[in-house]
Amino acid sequence: MRTSLLLLVCVGFVHGLGRVSLSRLPSVRSRLRAAEQLNEFLREHQPDVFSRRYAQCYPATQHYLRMGGRSTERLYNFMDAQFFGQISLGKPEQNFTVVFDTGSTDLWVPSSYCVSQACAMHHKFKAFESSTYAHDGRVFGIHYGSGHLLGVMAREELKVGSVTVQNQVFGEAVYEPGFAFVLAQFDGVLGLGFPQLAEELGSPVFDTMIAQGLLDEPVFSFYLKNNGSSFGGEVVFGGVDETRFVSPINWIAVTQKGYWQIRLDVVKVQGALRFCYRGPQGCQAVLDTGTSLIGGPARDILLLQQFIGATPTAVGEFLVDCVRISSLPVVSFQINNVEYSLTGEQYIRRETLNNKEICFSGFQSIDVPSSAGPIWILGDVFLSQFYSIYDRGHNRVGLAHLSENSQISV
Ligand SMILES: *[C@@H]1O[C@H](CO)[C@@H](O)[C@H](O)[C@H]1NC(C)=O
Ligand SMILES: *[C@@H]1O[C@H](CO)[C@@H](O)[C@H](O)[C@H]1NC(C)=O
Repeated sequence: MRTSLLLLVCVGFVHGLGRVSLSRLPSVRSRLRAAEQLNEFLREHQPDVFSRRYAQCYPATQHYLRMGGRSTERLYNFMDAQFFGQISLGKPEQNFTVVFDTGSTDLWVPSSYCVSQACAMHHKFKAFESSTYAHDGRVFGIHYGSGHLLGVMAREELKVGSVTVQNQVFGEAVYEPGFAFVLAQFDGVLGLGFPQLAEELGSPVFDTMIAQGLLDEPVFSFYLKNNGSSFGGEVVFGGVDETRFVSPINWIAVTQKGYWQIRLDVVKVQGALRFCYRGPQGCQAVLDTGTSLIGGPARDILLLQQFIGATPTAVGEFLVDCVRISSLPVVSFQINNVEYSLTGEQYIRRETLNNKEICFSGFQSIDVPSSAGPIWILGDVFLSQFYSIYDRGHNRVGLAHLSENSQISV
């Protein structure tokens, strides 16, 4: 039985891949909005959660300042996260729903010792029930808005799809601040950035997979479905899924190891506006599966919002009249001489509130201080239109167009 299953799985697929299906669920932001608590929440949690997340990221050496449990300012932008997948820790397995986040590097889940309200709403890791648990005892903290997520570190057997990682260091959160975590549809976060970004001390999950020889190639890839069913996409560890995209793959060198950071030649808005073309080095972009929208320097984004006729709300979101979507200009990102174009249908977010459709601009101001120049954050709005490949062997990112059947349904 087991053998035949294995054979079935291998037909048409590359060997040695760990696949995790992702589901797409409403973000904390949508749930707050539906409960009519969004405005109040955002008023209490300004400044901008996005910029807080990245505020301390440069220069990169600051990541090493944290020692002996002192925490640097880091923030997972879980407010907007909506793609989630399952992992398990321990023996017997304990399942958790996590955000697979290329914009951070740590793995954490709630601990059974956590008494925060947020933990009560989620799966909690029970160390005492696992025979593979190893105590570490060091403390970690991740800054979030008005408080810190705090925890202790441990080691465990980790299962990600068909890949089993031994002795993976991870964080057990014993304190989760704030109200937003209560509404989060995920238990924890599994970071896939470079080790330079790690908050915890120890080998990040993907580095451990490589070190333990669990993968055919030191590569993972994302297919995020922008549309439709509860199947939200897939992350593949160890290679790519060739049925999801069409050749060629545009390979782009990583410019700075931390985030998956690359060079962005220029951003164009249907011939009318151009951003980040000054100077021969263009500007920088980060591919971030844990961010929902596309972020850019406030100065540029404001111009862009004006140009597409998006109007600000009291809490800094930008609304567009839904009937205008089909007439909106194409916004294109030129990367390594290839243009990645998004139509209005693709960069506007639709949400239903009280049976009424509301439409949001998929662009958001995020000012990231960087020595390398302005940074754009390419979140799910961008990444759900293309297949993205993250290659640690060559320190490069691959982008390819989705195959036809991937664009429609699965
Ligand atoms: C964990 O998830 C797997 C796969 O979905 C499932 O087979 C298993 O029963 C789950 N385990 C628990 C303890 O819920
Ligand atoms: C969603 O998919 C349907 C076809 O399945 C398509 O007609 C529609 O335009 C898609 N919507 C978006 C926002 O891509």
